[in-house]
Amino acid sequence: MKFVLASNNKKKIAELRTILSALMPECEVLSLADAGITGDIEENGSTFEENSVIKASVPAKLGYIGIADDSGLCVDALDGAPGVYSARYSGNGDQANIDKLLSELYNVPDEKRTAKFVCVMSAVFSDGKTITARGEAHGVILRERRGEDGFGYDPVFYSTDLHKTFAEASADEKNKVSHRGRALAAFCDKLRSIIC
Ligand code: IMP
Repeated sequence: MKFVLASNNKKKIAELRTILSALMPECEVLSLADAGITGDIEENGSTFEENSVIKASVPAKLGYIGIADDSGLCVDALDGAPGVYSARYSGNGDQANIDKLLSELYNVPDEKRTAKFVCVMSAVFSDGKTITARGEAHGVILRERRGEDGFGYDPVFYSTDLHKTFAEASADEKNKVSHRGRALAAFCDKLRSIIC
């Protein structure tokens, strides 16, 4: 079975492909470029669920099974921000996003720096049938970056599962406890129950 993954983020595509191929080796994941779909997808939903379905609907409208994730970081002391705006928080990319987050949290004491990553994975079929699954990973926001790997907010997200930042974890370690890994495990269970 072939899916078209509606994302242009290369690191995210790689992570999703690795996790999906372990969970559902029979599936092939094509990129938007592989399917000849060009242009940006406007993410104008107000929840992770809405944005995930908006993205997965694009390949579905062209006859493919579209899959997509929408994810972000929700910080308790910031009332859930940056949330669905995580990628666009500073308007200036990953490093500036981290700088803005650290400065917003500058006066927040250690015990109140709790946060979670959220991921909602969805599949939209060409007949409009839709499934979604959510995963979360909990942690705290450090005061400075630690680790070299990963992407986005990984260097300042200290995982309470791993006892290190996501940027200090190997890809394997991160995938086992990450919001994306957890959403994908639930997503594959739902997908199997409708296609097997
Ligand atoms: P999306 O591509 O609209 O889902 O944006 C997700 C944004 O949330 C990314 O650009 C990152 O800023 C952040 N994000 C989501 N997942 C992760 C992760 O696993 N590590 C670090 N940052 C993440």
